[in-house]
Amino acid sequence: MSVTGNQTVIRLRLGLLTLLLFAIGQGQGCQVQSSGAAETKDWWETAQFYQIYPRSFKDSDGDGIGDLNGITSKLEYLKDLGVTAAWLSPIFASPMVDFGYDISDFFDIQPEYGTLDDFRALIKKAKELDLKIILDFVPNHSSDENEWFKKSVKREKGYEDYYVWHDGKVNAETGKREPPTNWLQYFRGTAWEWNEERQQYYLHQFAVQQPDLNYRNPLVVEQMKRVLRYWLNEGVAGFRCDALPPLFEVLPDADGQYPDETVTGATDDPDDRDYLTTTYIEDRPESIDMVYQWRTVLDDHKRIYGGDSSVLLIETYSAAWFTMQFYGNRTTEGAHLPFNFNLITVMDQKGLSAQTVQEAIDLWLKNMPAGRTPNWVLGNHDKRRAASRYGVDHIDGMNMLVMILPGASVTYQGEEIGMTDGEISWEDTVDPWGCNSNPDIYEMYTRDPERTPFQWTGGSNAGFTDGPTTWLPLAGDYETVNVETELAAEHSHLKIYKMLVALRKSSKTLQNGSTKYLALTEDIFVVRRSLANSPTIVGVINFGSETKTIDLREFDKNLSGNLQLLVRSLASTKSEGTTFSAQMLSVDPAEALVLTTQ
Ligand code: NOJ
Ligand code: MG
Repeated sequence: MSVTGNQTVIRLRLGLLTLLLFAIGQGQGCQVQSSGAAETKDWWETAQFYQIYPRSFKDSDGDGIGDLNGITSKLEYLKDLGVTAAWLSPIFASPMVDFGYDISDFFDIQPEYGTLDDFRALIKKAKELDLKIILDFVPNHSSDENEWFKKSVKREKGYEDYYVWHDGKVNAETGKREPPTNWLQYFRGTAWEWNEERQQYYLHQFAVQQPDLNYRNPLVVEQMKRVLRYWLNEGVAGFRCDALPPLFEVLPDADGQYPDETVTGATDDPDDRDYLTTTYIEDRPESIDMVYQWRTVLDDHKRIYGGDSSVLLIETYSAAWFTMQFYGNRTTEGAHLPFNFNLITVMDQKGLSAQTVQEAIDLWLKNMPAGRTPNWVLGNHDKRRAASRYGVDHIDGMNMLVMILPGASVTYQGEEIGMTDGEISWEDTVDPWGCNSNPDIYEMYTRDPERTPFQWTGGSNAGFTDGPTTWLPLAGDYETVNVETELAAEHSHLKIYKMLVALRKSSKTLQNGSTKYLALTEDIFVVRRSLANSPTIVGVINFGSETKTIDLREFDKNLSGNLQLLVRSLASTKSEGTTFSAQMLSVDPAEALVLTTQ
């Protein structure tokens, strides 16, 4: 009893101390102490992750579709970039309704991407190059062509409740059968589909062809753990876990009925997911526990077979209070990194400025539980490309930002060369979200523009394929925005990116230092990383359209004297190696600089 009592007192004191520090922090701008100067971090804590969208990365066989051998042939490129790990969007057998996020066999490779042997060759080469490979784990749903679904339709023994089935309701007025609830799918329209053969509705929070697995069935939970173990045994370094919010739905009532969602007023379009609340179909507490269970699978694997840690990255766009729980709690480890999408979502709502950058960073760091690792994401295959969203002028500054902030960061293929969105007509649209709309509104929904083929060269089909066609049209800027041109140029987005990754790898300050950041003015954002006995690193970004002269002592009184320029944005007229006075630093519109005290 007395031990517990003491612990409570200590906890209370720590709580008060935290409150006090937080209050001081508020007055001064934002300061985050590192958890320990000399500590050695596990590989993922300072990793630079790189997302590959396999269909669009590199085609090796001329069919205009990226594939595994294509990826293997470009692993040296990743090595040269300096990234730590590549996350591959789904490569499993799939009818490709949602381009691999509809999986018909979780244990096999999509034939147009290659074979299991091709995958093994990829892993082998990656290991030789000391690159880690992470796979996409899609737990919420399968394809309707998956054997599990076919068996469930037939109510085969053991598969009866593999999916979320329901009789539906009978409308008292019309006498007609209706879906059980008004729930909407993400890709527009009802989330329930009638199955003639089974004579029941099934739930699909994504496309009709993506039935939701039933996580209230222990057989499903175990089956999906088998999937994790299977790929861990093939040598992968972890998983990006897809779509956590819809993993569980509310339990039905005693009569087996589910509740309807309520109209939000956010949109007039009754097919749009935002038309209704998602109280009963998203962010249920059971989803958090399921991630903790997956973590145990990974940790057990390491305990049994040894080797490096494998990681869980979690995809959720939930509110901070929910997202942060994925990290784990005082007694249980959770995901290594729940993705931090704030640099996408806050800017989408409020635009890009020094102030919104500060807001986005605060939103993560001030909510993150102590002792966890932050991470920073600029884009992915579901969001407009970073260079299009922030403006090409700001791509170097944003790459700098995520690379000098503490923790891990994630690059979506093409961000390193400043790729922009493609223009895809309604006729060429293939994304199910776009296709489920109409020619007038499809641009609001389609994700095709950010999925155009990677631009390797300025030549035929951007060097993506030797074949005559590409599965999606190329983006218009490939003749100037491509790897070959940017490697040959003296200065380029790509070269800046490589300098940043190299700096991050070599700098103890960036790995272990404390962090201070502030919107110094409406336009100027400043980050400082510092560590005892190591050079301080300062990042300065001008998000405005006017040249500003700043005195960095207003941000940090220790920043006086001269600072040396390490990295500059493409349009900057300053030269690396030159020194500048911290008291009178002039920063041009959209200019971004990384400086050091040494
Ligand atoms: C999130 C993925 O990133 C997206 O591309 C996909 O459509 C959905 N989850 C469904 O799996
Ligand atoms: Mg191919």
